[in-house]
Formats: sequence, structure tokens, C-alpha cells
Amino acid sequence: MSKAIITDVKNTFINTFKTEPLLIFSPGRINIIGEHTDYNDGFVFPAAVDKGIAAAIQKSDSKKSTAVALDLDSTIEFELDKLKPSKEGSWENYVFGVVAEIQNRNKVIGNFNIVFKGNIPGGAGMSSSAALENSVVFGLNELFNLGLTKHEMILISQKAEHNYVGVKCGIMDQYASMFGVKNNALLLDCRTIESKPYEINFKEHQLMLINTNVKHSLSDSAYNDRRSACERVSELLGVKALRDATEADLKRIIDKVIPANYQKALYVIQENERTLKAVKAIEDGNLETLGALIYQSHEGLTTKYKVSCNELDFLVNQAKENKSVLGARMMGGGFGGCTINLVTKDKANRFAEEASKAYKKEFNKECSVYFIKLSKGTHLIR
Ligand code: GLA
Repeated sequence: MSKAIITDVKNTFINTFKTEPLLIFSPGRINIIGEHTDYNDGFVFPAAVDKGIAAAIQKSDSKKSTAVALDLDSTIEFELDKLKPSKEGSWENYVFGVVAEIQNRNKVIGNFNIVFKGNIPGGAGMSSSAALENSVVFGLNELFNLGLTKHEMILISQKAEHNYVGVKCGIMDQYASMFGVKNNALLLDCRTIESKPYEINFKEHQLMLINTNVKHSLSDSAYNDRRSACERVSELLGVKALRDATEADLKRIIDKVIPANYQKALYVIQENERTLKAVKAIEDGNLETLGALIYQSHEGLTTKYKVSCNELDFLVNQAKENKSVLGARMMGGGFGGCTINLVTKDKANRFAEEASKAYKKEFNKECSVYFIKLSKGTHLIR
């Protein structure tokens, strides 16, 4: 995390509230493979990164609490016993939601002040929202000795997103942000919420993100629609979640499912298998196979799950045309945000330049390139 951001958050806090705050870093995440599998009780393979949210937080003697979003130059005061969701799309819902969900668990907190700032652009598909939620719950747990475990904290963050933000997200983002391990990706079983870390060293290859810098609207409702479509198909299959179904099971109910939902369920079942195959490929040191699986993941997200967009498809096609890229796909919820690319190290800059130029020509818009480090999860900065 950039020192400048931490200093900024800390100094703003001290100047505004005249006390020393606790400082927290809460990372965003990448996801190597396993997209839209988390809310199907499936497998995902994310990692926390060195970009995220820095927060300064401390108790307050006043009758109100204050939250300051430095990036947005926006401040909000609120009363803990009068919380309700703010209008859709507003940043304070991440804060209010976490506070409300803590209270729902009969944990008592007092007034507090928080100042935060991040270096992940919203809409990048890198979970700036989970990073923020986790920083709030982690900070409040420290300040008020709530005795919450990290598992409880991520469930609180997730519920905040469900009930205050209105996105019925899975657990991947909050988990990766909270439990990240330096230099590792986590194979997370979203049913048991347990993970196994894998040290990621791709030798002459590396991961690189390209942000389309677009976020098409309707993505939240499209997300919730897909989640309920998956749930309807599992009901028809008589299983708890699509994680429990095979392609053969799905074929048996083909007449009962509308074609669009059949394709979506098929995607999920295949992506779940791909995720396990990808981890095996990493164990075997077979990056060509990993790359091919990553391309297949994108193909499924575009043609079956239908959560991609022209900008993402364009960047993935740029990758396909470039021999130095082994695999590329859209990352996160979709409809914009980043592609993740597995690229030869010494050709990465060249590819980034070529893809950026082509993107500009096609869309008359800049994309952004991020080189990331896999990092530790949410923690106090001492
Ligand atoms: C968003 C959600 C996650 C996950 C991904 C898609 O990031 O928050 O829970 O479903 O989309 O894999």
C-alpha cells in the first residue's frame, strides 16, 4: 500500500478529530479463476493484492459518528441507532451496512470516526467495496473489543453488501481481502469457507491487469438475476447448489429449464471444474494449461453466463493475438472492470502498450494497466 495514502489518511484524521487513530490496511483482490462460482457453493482462486483501502479509525465522544471518504471529498455524520440504507449507489451504505450488521449480532459499539482512502478505482472488479467493508468491521472489532473472529467479520461484510448495498454477493471478495497471504493465491471452498494457500511464482510469467475503465450500469441487478437463476436450476435439480451437480445431471432436466438458464448453469458447473483443473496445472507447473483454462473461463463468461461486454472481449482478443500472453479473461462480476492476463514477464510492457493503443483506437478511451503483488489480508498498520 502506498505510504502517501496512509499518511494522508492519518494526517486528515488527526487534523479533523484531534486524536491518534488506529490505522488499517484492507486489500482488494484479484481472481485467477473461478468466476460466479462462489454463490453456487463452488471453488474460487483469488488473492489479496497490494492495492486497497487505508482507514484511520477511533472512538468519538460526540453524539454522532463521522465517516470521511477522502477520495470523494465527502463527509457524512450519522447516529448509530437511526441507521437505514442511503440511496442506491452511495458509498456510505458500505459503512452503515457493516455497523447495522454488527448491531444485528447484539454487539454493542459506541460512536466512532473514520477516514479512508483507496487506490483501487471503483468498478475495476477488484473489490474496493469488500476492502472498505472489511476495514470498517476490522477497525470496530479492535476499537470496541467485539471479539469477532475473522470468519464472523467477513460474514458481516457480506451481509452489509446484501442488505445495505443490495448486491447478493458470494463470499469470495470479503474472504480474499480478509485472509490474503503474501505471495499466495487461495483455493477457497465457498461451501466450507476454508482455503488452501498456493504460493504463486510463475517464473518467467506474471499476472497483469488491464482496466477497461468502464462499468456498465445494471450490473447489480444482472448479478442478482444470475444468482437467482442458478438457485432456480439447483432447485429443479434437487441439489443444494450447482456445486453438487454434473453436466450429466443438468442434461436430464434440459426440458424443464429455459435455454438461457441452462447455459448459465452449464457455465457454472464447467467453471467449477476448471478452477480445480487450474490449481492442478499450477501444482504441475503447467502454465500453458493454466492459460488455456483462463481463456475458456472468459469464453464461458461471454457466451454462456453473459456477463462480459465489448470492452472486455476486445482486450481478451488482443491477448489472444499476442503470443506472449498464455491466458486472459474478464475478472470479477463483469460488465466492465479489469481483465487478468498471464503474460511473459519481459514482454508484458510491450503487450500493455500495444493493447492500450488498440483499445484507445477502438473505443476512444484509455485503459489502465496494473502490475500487482499478492499481499497479506486486512491488518493493522503499526
Ligand atoms: C463479485 C461478487 C463476488 C463474486 C464475483 C464473481 O465480485 O462480489 O462474490 O460472485 O462477483 O465471481
